[in-house]
Amino acid sequence: MTDYQTFIGQIYKKTGLDLSLYKEVQMKRRLTSLRNKRGYQSFSSYFQAINKDQQLLQEFLDKVTINVSEFYRNPARWRVLESKIVPTFKKTKKKIKIWSAACSTGEEPYTLAIIANQFWNLADIDILATDIDPNVLARAKQGIYNERALQEVPSDIKKKYFHQEGGTFKVDDKLKQAITFKEHNLLADPYPTQVDLIVCRNVLIYFTEEAKNTIYHKFSDALSDDGIFFVGSTEQIFSPDKYGFKVLDTFFYGKK
Ligand SMILES: C[S@@+](CC[C@H](N)C(=O)[O-])C[C@H]1O[C@@H](n2cnc3c(N)ncnc32)[C@H](O)[C@@H]1O
Repeated sequence: MTDYQTFIGQIYKKTGLDLSLYKEVQMKRRLTSLRNKRGYQSFSSYFQAINKDQQLLQEFLDKVTINVSEFYRNPARWRVLESKIVPTFKKTKKKIKIWSAACSTGEEPYTLAIIANQFWNLADIDILATDIDPNVLARAKQGIYNERALQEVPSDIKKKYFHQEGGTFKVDDKLKQAITFKEHNLLADPYPTQVDLIVCRNVLIYFTEEAKNTIYHKFSDALSDDGIFFVGSTEQIFSPDKYGFKVLDTFFYGKK
């Protein structure tokens, strides 16, 4: 077993995080650079240090869980959601259940709440927002962002749903009523059921083909019969029919 593979096993035992399901080349490159920066020549000496030092462990976990996000990330895709996908749901659904899987610091579930609120009252919108990383979830619940995270937010939406405090923007409390934030590992935890819209963007690219395969099947099972799956802008599914999906639009899949 290589030094890196032994490290993966030790990390799994310590944290429950299975790095063997993340693409090895990229992950190893990221972690080697962090390890070298901290002055460790091997993964075994790095693990010994992580095992004793909570701060080093946290820094390591932050490196694994790449947390970058923003409101309306890839705006053209959100316009498709707003103008084509959600209006179809509105015709048949009095309430909507959405899952923002790997939601990071909350920009994605808040964007979903803003869009859904154009069609339903907030009381009829149920958004589950999950991530493996408790630190990003804590920030998501706070709902305070810098201007850069809001660069794609239209100005009327900014006025309606945000409060500016100096250089930061705070999400209006009423939006939070629609969202439940919860810790969830896509590679290990049970999935919710009867979800109308699953949004899982910019995380599947980090996983191995085998892990993605399992996740697609689980997402397919988690959707309601007319449910829709919205993926990230580099994450088209290679053979959607394998998972019971059909293409509705680029980056949007329905159940077959
Ligand atoms: C780049 S962010 C994507 C945020 C948002 N979906 C977007 O597109 O802007 C990736 C997120 O995936 C989360 N993540 C990584 N591995 C995960 C796993 N096994 N289960 C759940 N979330 C995971 C990270 O913590 C991080 O917050």
